[in-house]
Amino acid sequence: MRDSLFIIAAFSEATERPPVWMMRQAGRFMPEYWEIKNKYSFLEMCKTPEIAADVTMLPVDLLGIDAAILFSDILVTGEAMGGDLSFTQGVGPKFANPVRSQADIDKLSDNVGDKLQYVADAIKVIQQRLDGKIPLIGFAGAPFTVMSYLVEGGSSKDFKLTKLMLHNEPEMAHQLLSKIATVTADYLNLQIEAGVNAVQIFDSWAQALSWDDYTEFSHNYIQQIISKLNRKDIPVISFCKGSSVFAPLMAEAKPDVVSIDWNVDLLDIKKRLPQGVAVQGNLDPHILYADKKVIKERIHRLFERMKGENGFIFNLGHGIMPDIPFDNVKYAVEVIKEWAP
Ligand code: CP3
Repeated sequence: MRDSLFIIAAFSEATERPPVWMMRQAGRFMPEYWEIKNKYSFLEMCKTPEIAADVTMLPVDLLGIDAAILFSDILVTGEAMGGDLSFTQGVGPKFANPVRSQADIDKLSDNVGDKLQYVADAIKVIQQRLDGKIPLIGFAGAPFTVMSYLVEGGSSKDFKLTKLMLHNEPEMAHQLLSKIATVTADYLNLQIEAGVNAVQIFDSWAQALSWDDYTEFSHNYIQQIISKLNRKDIPVISFCKGSSVFAPLMAEAKPDVVSIDWNVDLLDIKKRLPQGVAVQGNLDPHILYADKKVIKERIHRLFERMKGENGFIFNLGHGIMPDIPFDNVKYAVEVIKEWAP
């Protein structure tokens, strides 16, 4: 896999065109996803290796992207630690036993390898199906983002309870984050052992934090995780919403790639990062709702801007929304693959 477009770009070496994959590419915008989803619950899909492999392969077969991403969820670490996790249509993820006290934190397990074995099994099936064609990206949630779901008990608009724990009970928050970080490093190493070719850490809600709080409660743990990874030839991608602000700090945790949201000019931010750190991004996902000529024009504009830069992976600034037309996503991939500088 070291000679695939995606891995070469992730290690900041020259490629004939930027590789393309998209966050949430294995998901609800595809009618074929719904054919499977209508038969199983989301967690059943994640936990049955053959089904997880079927869904992982949908964008590979239907879109022709340059990297596959494991079909799973960032919250499986929280579940393996003892969270009572469910996903309900229209409601999103829920933990029925939110973590709000010292006793709740003490109850969480930080040794979860066995419980996540189904992910290793899925990775093996997926790699058989991919048959060396393109790399497979594994992933995990960053401690702060996973903590927010454990503490709030689900999705949140303002992360009020989570931030209250950071501010009023910092020692407790650090204990919780530290437990999640231990589990996350072990979990990513389990994925690497099982055969993923790259890993991405998702800190989706980091933008809720101030610079100081991001440094203390998120960055430090991501740095810890990355330093523990068995990463020879395995690029590490660090993603957060808020990366247009936090990217220079994210780079200090020593990922190979920083994934950038759409609020910033991609070349400007890349120039602010150390040599050898690649960027991934950063089209506003809403562009994929627009007319095809707009999609093409915006992709070309981004590619012109990044022309001649090694270390550029095309992605969206965040995940594909479920109601984006499949045809537009397919068109975007075609435009990218046809681009010649
Ligand atoms: O990118 C991919 O295609 C791989 C699979 C993947 C999923 N979730 C599948 C999924 C990945 C990488 C994730 C990560 C994830 N999960 C994140 C970080 C990425 C991001 O977008 O910021 C977060 C915050 C979650 C937590 C989560 N999982 C939420 C908030 C939801 C519900 C969202 C909603 O709009 O209802 C999920 C469910 C989920 N994860 C689905 C999928 C395909 C939808 C499940 C369904 O079919 O109902």
